[in-house]
Amino acid sequence: MQVQILGNGAYAPKTILTNHDLEKKIDTSNEWIVARTGIRERHIAAKDEATSDLAVHAARKALEQAGVAPMDVDLVIVATSMPDMFFPSTACIVQEKLGAKNAAAFDLSAACSGFIYALSVGEQYVRSETYRHVLVIGAEVMSRLTNWQDRGTCVLFGDGAGAVLLGPANEGRGILSVHLHTDGALWDLICVPGGAGAIPPSEKVLVECLNTIHMKGSETFKIAVRNLENVALEALHANDMSISDIDWLVPHQANIRILKAVAARLKMPKEKMVVNLDRYGNTSAASIPLAFDEAVNDGRIKRGDSILFLAFGGGLTWGAAVVNY
Ligand code: UT7
Repeated sequence: MQVQILGNGAYAPKTILTNHDLEKKIDTSNEWIVARTGIRERHIAAKDEATSDLAVHAARKALEQAGVAPMDVDLVIVATSMPDMFFPSTACIVQEKLGAKNAAAFDLSAACSGFIYALSVGEQYVRSETYRHVLVIGAEVMSRLTNWQDRGTCVLFGDGAGAVLLGPANEGRGILSVHLHTDGALWDLICVPGGAGAIPPSEKVLVECLNTIHMKGSETFKIAVRNLENVALEALHANDMSISDIDWLVPHQANIRILKAVAARLKMPKEKMVVNLDRYGNTSAASIPLAFDEAVNDGRIKRGDSILFLAFGGGLTWGAAVVNY
């Protein structure tokens, strides 16, 4: 049983925060942000918008495109680092808002690699014929995990959601492979250390901003480039493919310098790499399905194209998926 992407959708909140807006708030400049990251602006959720709201918008579009009704969804998986609440899972809230009454629902936590991890889990359920229709959603309100005084991180992240509906494939199509990796020894390179179980909420947590993203940027950068190259080669090798067999590289959108370095190492022409971080920033688990959806909607990615998804994030976690769309 092959497992296919039957439909895709994405959503980004209306409010846009530009680099020039940030210049007015902290000691930074548009030039620095563009040169060091490639980011020009990012979307920020409204006060009354939670991760589940973003997720539901994206999921509805994916279902519409696939022509599948919410009642016919069997499972909802939400990959997120910013759940609506500790519990119940954001996926339960999405199930209710979507009217997917027959679906089981749970969240998955793998930071910026969350979408590829969730894709891999969803694929197993369809492949084993346990479920027919699985909604895989990456959704984040990173702006609420951001320390807006820390110029090293606050210029990077944005809010958004992307979704795909998985189901049984037509012959020859589908998810060809998923490779996942973790190195828990490096958990402290990107983390939100406080406000949960290990360091519960307290005045100290708020004063020291332990409930926001802490990142060792340049160390993370170097490991990201190396690991993304390695997992891409692992995925190509497993499928007996070379990079010239891939029509589109859809990587996690963290930093344009990381993406260019990985593309150069893989000898992937830059026109074949989908990049939208200039307009969205790093939307963590949402970034791959957001970029994918954009390239499908504007006609770049077509049915039958071979796609290499690449992700890297906190954990550390990283992975690759090869998909014949
Ligand atoms: O999605 C999960 C995975 N995450 C990543 O992959 C992120 C990986 N890391 C990165 O993308 C980059 O490391 C950053 C964009 C975070 C930082 O770029 P960098 O080239 O590694 O800069 P740096 O942290 O080494 O900082 C260089 C300088 C420092 O000043 P000094 O010490 O040289 O005087 C920083 O204080 O740039 C300064 N700086 C800034 N200046 C203006 C840091 N942030 C800013 C800023 N505006 N926003």
